Amino acid sequence: MISRDTIEEIRNRLDIVDVISDFVSLKKSGQNYKALSPFSNEKTPSFFVVPAKGIFKDFSSGKGGDAITFVMEHEKLSYAEALRYLAKRYGIEIKEDRQSAESEAIQSEREGLYILMNFAKDYYRKQLTGSEEGMSVGLSYFRERGFHDRTIDKFELGYALDGWENFSNEAIAKGYNRELLEKTGLVVKKEDGSTYDRFRGRVIFPVHNITGKVIAFGARMLGKEKNQPKYINSPETDIYHKSDVLYGLYQGKNAIRQQEVCYLVEGYTDVISLHQADVQNVVASSGTALTENQIKLIRRFTENITVLFDGDAAGIKAALRGIDMILRGGLNVRVILFPDGEDPDSYSRKVGTTEFQKFLKEHTQDFVSFKAGLYAKEAASDPIKKAESIREIVTSIAQIPDPVKRSVYIQETSAQLKISEAVLLSELNKILIQERKKTEKEKFRDQDEPPFPVEPIQEQALVKLDAQGMVERQERETIRLLLNFANKSVEDNALTDFFSRELDDVSFSHPVYKLIYEEFKKGIRAGTVPDSHYFLQQGNEAVKQAVTDLITPRYDTSKHWSDKYKIFFPKEEEMVNELALSNVLRLKFRVVQKMMEDNLVKVKQAETGGTWEELEAALVAQTGLKEAEQELAKMLGIVIAR
Ligand code: UTP
Ligand code: MN
Repeated sequence: MISRDTIEEIRNRLDIVDVISDFVSLKKSGQNYKALSPFSNEKTPSFFVVPAKGIFKDFSSGKGGDAITFVMEHEKLSYAEALRYLAKRYGIEIKEDRQSAESEAIQSEREGLYILMNFAKDYYRKQLTGSEEGMSVGLSYFRERGFHDRTIDKFELGYALDGWENFSNEAIAKGYNRELLEKTGLVVKKEDGSTYDRFRGRVIFPVHNITGKVIAFGARMLGKEKNQPKYINSPETDIYHKSDVLYGLYQGKNAIRQQEVCYLVEGYTDVISLHQADVQNVVASSGTALTENQIKLIRRFTENITVLFDGDAAGIKAALRGIDMILRGGLNVRVILFPDGEDPDSYSRKVGTTEFQKFLKEHTQDFVSFKAGLYAKEAASDPIKKAESIREIVTSIAQIPDPVKRSVYIQETSAQLKISEAVLLSELNKILIQERKKTEKEKFRDQDEPPFPVEPIQEQALVKLDAQGMVERQERETIRLLLNFANKSVEDNALTDFFSRELDDVSFSHPVYKLIYEEFKKGIRAGTVPDSHYFLQQGNEAVKQAVTDLITPRYDTSKHWSDKYKIFFPKEEEMVNELALSNVLRLKFRVVQKMMEDNLVKVKQAETGGTWEELEAALVAQTGLKEAEQELAKMLGIVIAR
């Protein structure tokens, strides 16, 4: 029970921008701040902090509130835990109304785990510097590896004595119960019910969560022993989920934000050595490929990640696979390759701080170019490998959600590999279509056929056409269908009736298509649907021109596509139903996107010059449109890339 006075003091002292900045990289925007939502995986910022009101609002998840709510939501803490966190952050002493720290520990099991892990960390630290064995074995090991005392302190490194019960005995003497010792994984229970310490005769690397609490340990053996694993790690517990944690993030998060890049290394010792070389914006993946949650974690602080590779040629290609996942997360990926036989730890110690930092700066390469370069060598010497190389590189490019970035990479790769853009683009389309088919198949597993014909993705068109162009393209398709298939039936109605009902709330924007569409509407009401002859006789020049274009049979391209990609296109008149349905959805989809673009201008204006209320209204509208967009996209089976 935290006293009212303490709560009052915390509320008075905290600054919402400060508090949120510890977790999210905020950018100033007019009176307010904005950022990518830490609660969802968005690509355009919709998370706002309004210092004047002491509130935050996240338009992608709908969450909002004051600084305390933020800490609760973000760190998954209770109200009391959030207050304790904030009190600590501002150096405010907590006055309790009734309960003691001990009963608190019983009250919350998680809290209990944290407390015991913290106790263990302090215990291992004490053994490192305060025991005979710790100093002669553990501390001298760290010294030999060149770790400074202040580094040992910063990472709270420790030593576990060589024996079966040293830690257990100490913890039990201090009043911690056996059950809790097992729950933290610090002791292991045997089949006969007896227990022993998990970590023995090893140096200890505590793993911290983002707020600095110890949630796990990695324990390294000393020297090169026979058949023991190099590291023994804590098991998963209620407070430790390996796939959600990055080693070094707590110590490095502010540097990551400031430097606007996060270095990714493999191991504990790489992180520590980089800190000693004054490079603090670094995290370790603990020897495995990054998980989706770990990528999200990094994205809270920066959109740039640089992966540091050991100079071991055999391992590189395997490691490259894991990077596609990072690209899919929308991050900008760069790589640094170390000289043969060196890892970040060994190399930084070998060349020293200044040289090492220079090396990082000079050897950073864009990931796609790096990969292309790697395969270019092989492709040049072996024509059979060429196709495989193209597929490898384009597969990576296909992961990038932003179509503009994709097309830039296609251009660069084309230059680098001396392969025409057209070849790369068609390979890209093949992969995108395959992936889209895969997701559609999953969605419509019960049906034999996907509901809409798979349309090849035209990269160039995507890049060139603006939202208005996209709308007009679909308007044109509506008119084309009306002109060619007016009497076909769709959903048991005439095509004309279907359109006039479905497009009731859409008004056409292109002047010529609008004119034609209005004529159709008039005709439907009067019971005489116009046809192409009518327009060719009655229409003005522009109308005649458009109608001529639209009644000229097309889709000769479909043969090309079907040959090339083995996609079967039925005859057009057999697909009028599908074409009309997908056209209605696509038109609405594009109209909504155009509205979003227009509304975004309002958001920008409100951000710089408007009141919070105006900004809020514009953002609410944007959220509504975004939802409509996503809904339509889902129906269309489109993955929205942004
Ligand atoms: P490394 O073998 O590269 O370890 O494994 P390291 O941390 O660089 O240690 P040194 O430099 O050889 O002393 C990279 C990471 O993989 C995990 C650890 O997280 C390690 O930091 N790992 C490795 C294990 O969990 N268990 C192991 O047995 C080995
Ligand atoms: Mn290593």
